[in-house]
Amino acid sequence: MTNQQLTIKRWMLIFFSLLVVARVGGGETGKYLGPCSVVPSRDGRMLYIAFADAKHIAFVNIRSGKVTRSIATPAKPTGLTVSPDGRELYVTCAATQSTILVMDAESGKIEAKIPLGHTACGPTVTRDGKRLYVCNRFDNNVSVIDLETRKVVARVSATREPLATAITADGKSVLIINHLPAERADTFDVAAVVTIIDTQSNATTTIRLPSGASGLRGICNSPDGKHAYVTHILARYELPTIQVDYGWMNANALSVIDTKEKKLLGTVLVDEMYLGAANPWDVACTADGKWICVTHAGTHELSVIDAPALLKKLLAMPVKPPPEQIGEVVYDDRNELLDYFRRLRATLKGKPAESGEPYTLGSAAGVSNDLNFLDGLRRRIKLKGKGPRGLSIIGSKAYVAEYFTDTLSVVELEPKSPNMVHELALGPKPQLTVRRRGEMLFNDAELCFQHWQSCASCHPDARMDGLNWDLTNDGIGNLKNTKSLLLSHKTPPVMSSGVRASAEMAVRTGMKHILFAERPGEDAIAIDTYLKSVEPVPSPYLVDGRLSSAAERGKKLFFSDKVSCSKCHPAPLYTDMRRHDIGSKSPCDRRRAFDTPTLIEVWRTAPYLHDGRYTTIKELITEGGCCRQESDAKLTQRQINNLVEFVLSL
Ligand code: HEC
Ligand code: HEC
Repeated sequence: MTNQQLTIKRWMLIFFSLLVVARVGGGETGKYLGPCSVVPSRDGRMLYIAFADAKHIAFVNIRSGKVTRSIATPAKPTGLTVSPDGRELYVTCAATQSTILVMDAESGKIEAKIPLGHTACGPTVTRDGKRLYVCNRFDNNVSVIDLETRKVVARVSATREPLATAITADGKSVLIINHLPAERADTFDVAAVVTIIDTQSNATTTIRLPSGASGLRGICNSPDGKHAYVTHILARYELPTIQVDYGWMNANALSVIDTKEKKLLGTVLVDEMYLGAANPWDVACTADGKWICVTHAGTHELSVIDAPALLKKLLAMPVKPPPEQIGEVVYDDRNELLDYFRRLRATLKGKPAESGEPYTLGSAAGVSNDLNFLDGLRRRIKLKGKGPRGLSIIGSKAYVAEYFTDTLSVVELEPKSPNMVHELALGPKPQLTVRRRGEMLFNDAELCFQHWQSCASCHPDARMDGLNWDLTNDGIGNLKNTKSLLLSHKTPPVMSSGVRASAEMAVRTGMKHILFAERPGEDAIAIDTYLKSVEPVPSPYLVDGRLSSAAERGKKLFFSDKVSCSKCHPAPLYTDMRRHDIGSKSPCDRRRAFDTPTLIEVWRTAPYLHDGRYTTIKELITEGGCCRQESDAKLTQRQINNLVEFVLSL
């Protein structure tokens, strides 16, 4: 072949490959809708869908399946709710300074924008239509809005990362789920709580879920208002992570709350003996109270649970028995095992082996360990799309927003109906970039042996679950607090003991030894690409995007020769990527030196140090290793407060 012939051949090749690309690429690469939340109009004829990635709201005619209106939002829409008279649609738009849009539910006209806090989500309106409750996720509080004046009338504290709200039928209480536990992690009783606001006084109480409850995502009330249902992960963080089956690492759960008594009735596992149902997300009930539906974001399924049968069975269970019966009645194998490990570690830490009460169960004894509890009470329905998140029910149909495929699944809930699941495309079929595919895999429990967990089970939003785990990378018996994956790829080595040379290596070993899966190399590359793209969220401690004056003073101390935090935590990543012995070794640790963590987003990643022993930076600075040796004694309270303010602003 001559040179000229070769060139023509090359051009033809390029031409034809371009043609192929043009044909395959229906939707444009990298453009996603990201449907995350769906609510029906009051007349049940329309659906409002929030597209988190495309930043708009779509009005979908249910009968035709067509998008009739599309309205751009000023920031990522995270949640929707409709006024009781059906005339207004409220849309939370999440940003550092969020807003809630008041929209005409018919025309889509934006009537008002009410300013809110950091990352607004989970709105609910009272039945009389007078008030709106909205979570400010990263301010850890809830805004109460008067809808007549369209003004925020109160901000009520929640516990940690409130995500969703539900109002009881009598309007007396608002229940709020907190995404993560807010406790030190080096004990054997760590759990997230549900906050309850008294709507009259704005006073709050909390209900603690069983130990290991983390990653709360959804809440709803039963139509009769007697119960609330909460979806979450039930982590068995106490056990060494040598197996994943039988929910040994992460089980997946639905907690049932008695709203009148304000107590937990019990926590039911939504997994089955040989098949996990990972990452339960949203929950909703049919209006007749017959079915409770749960989306499983990790396994792309919908659970349809027989509500009366579930309550009957749960209420018939013995409640936690009197102490003299513990050991005979309720001790099943798992509890004995958990207790064994707890005692073993107490001994290792040099505490008496008998410390603490015997291992506590969920309120209804034994239920939270029973992988057969829902047998015969629940149908698991496979959905067609990937990443089912938001859920709404109209009549006997469930509508599920499927985040990764830009689809909506319509599921017929009556057991005998044919063609149970229909799928509706909400836009062109998305062409996944490597990054997006990585995000999908990261959230996909189908990678895991028997689908018990995804990477996101312990690393929600690529961050952390607030729990300690006994991973096998550095030997057994020395639990480590889950690390956020923000900047992991830029700050080798990884793991608090620095045993993995790079995040790339941790991703690959994570698949193998945490998900117990063999996966092709391209999956790991996709996950790397996704994790590298994760951007820090601006700190809620910043004032208009800048350091407060206290933080400015703290900054000077941080970089000063006297305090010299920056010796080990230099800007811009706030880590020197080395190991240091700062005296933080606990009796269970085999090593003295730990990898210096980045301090970016540290406002969000409590508890602190490799074993999660401190819940606040102040505790860490005054009691912990970091500055104790050199400068603790010399810093005044004010200086410490300024230093804390700076670190929390990063
Ligand atoms: C059972 C909970 C759990 C699951 C599931 C899990 N991880 Fe982790 N991950 C952890 C804990 C705990 C650490 C910190 C361990 C340490 O410091 O020794 C960690 C650390 C990491 C790190 C190092 C972070 C750093 O900067 O030091 C990476 C990277 C990582 N995980 C990726 C993944 C990926 C990818 C998956 C899914 C394949 C995954 N993890 C699944 C618990 C988990
Ligand atoms: C000699 C090096 C060194 C110096 C100096 C130092 N640190 Fe650290 N810092 C570390 C190491 C190593 C860790 C991790 C220890 C562990 O996990 O047990 C750490 C952990 C932290 C953490 C917890 C982060 C997390 O995610 O758990 C914070 C916050 C912190 N340091 C702030 C500071 C501040 C503020 C100063 C100055 C007063 C300071 N450090 C000085 C090495 C240092």
